[in-house]
Amino acid sequence: MSISAPGTPYGTLPAASMPAARKPVSLPRLAEMRARGEKITMLTAYDATFAAVADAAGVECLLVGDSLGMVCQGLSSTVGVSLENMAYHMESVSRGLRRSQGTAWLLADLPFGTYHESKEQALRNAAVLMRAGAHMVKLEGGGWTTETVHFLVERGIPVCAHLGLTPQTVHSLGGYRVQGKSDSSAQILREQAIELEQAGASLLVLEMVPADLSAEITNTLKTCHTIGIGAGNGTAGQVLVLHDMLGVNLGKNAKFVRNFMQGQESVQAAFEAYVKAVKEGSFPDNTIHAW
Ligand code: KIV
Repeated sequence: MSISAPGTPYGTLPAASMPAARKPVSLPRLAEMRARGEKITMLTAYDATFAAVADAAGVECLLVGDSLGMVCQGLSSTVGVSLENMAYHMESVSRGLRRSQGTAWLLADLPFGTYHESKEQALRNAAVLMRAGAHMVKLEGGGWTTETVHFLVERGIPVCAHLGLTPQTVHSLGGYRVQGKSDSSAQILREQAIELEQAGASLLVLEMVPADLSAEITNTLKTCHTIGIGAGNGTAGQVLVLHDMLGVNLGKNAKFVRNFMQGQESVQAAFEAYVKAVKEGSFPDNTIHAW
């Protein structure tokens, strides 16, 4: 399996293949994409090389997710990931993009316990991730997070919210389960999404939410663009965990994941297939996970 063309004994980052005209991805650019109906693509990234290759394949957003606890560190949940872990991986990804003259929009997860005490704690820790190279921080949950989102956005830190299955609360949720199936839980998600948009969140990850509900939330929100994972194809964009979509992981892939490595000769080709499938609407397939 080739990752990139070797140039030194350690390989090169794929800057040479980058078209010169690519402009950095920004929030206004993501809003323009949404306005013209172009789907936004996001993948998780944890190191310099994969980040550079995903960027060269045209993935617009790279998320240094706290899923790194599970796929890089072998933990059984994201709860054990520290701020220092996040900053280390964020710096690696950011360096990879700098060296390859990449253009992707970079997000980093605020890990469990780093924004729960107060909005001041969230600001302090978000600043660590921004200094490590993030353009935006992501935090999980609705209701109690709204004030924090507003506080960060007012101070110049773009925020991606995350509703539905929020992995940091897996122990309270009783497992990795679909959220928003009952009328009352769907209504809570609708209300929290609107509050988060009003608080200034520019992106909203919807994880394991019924496809019709996530499409409805997407259409209600105007300045906050939804990014789905296991949430059907009615969202403004899609995200997958890197290892899952390459078919390499320690457990079983969730039903909604597609192995994009199948039939491809390189990791970059797998990323390109993902971008194409999301943009043309063939991934995800609503019939496979109509929760
Ligand atoms: O940590 C992560 O990788 C995430 C994605 C699943 C959205 O939050």
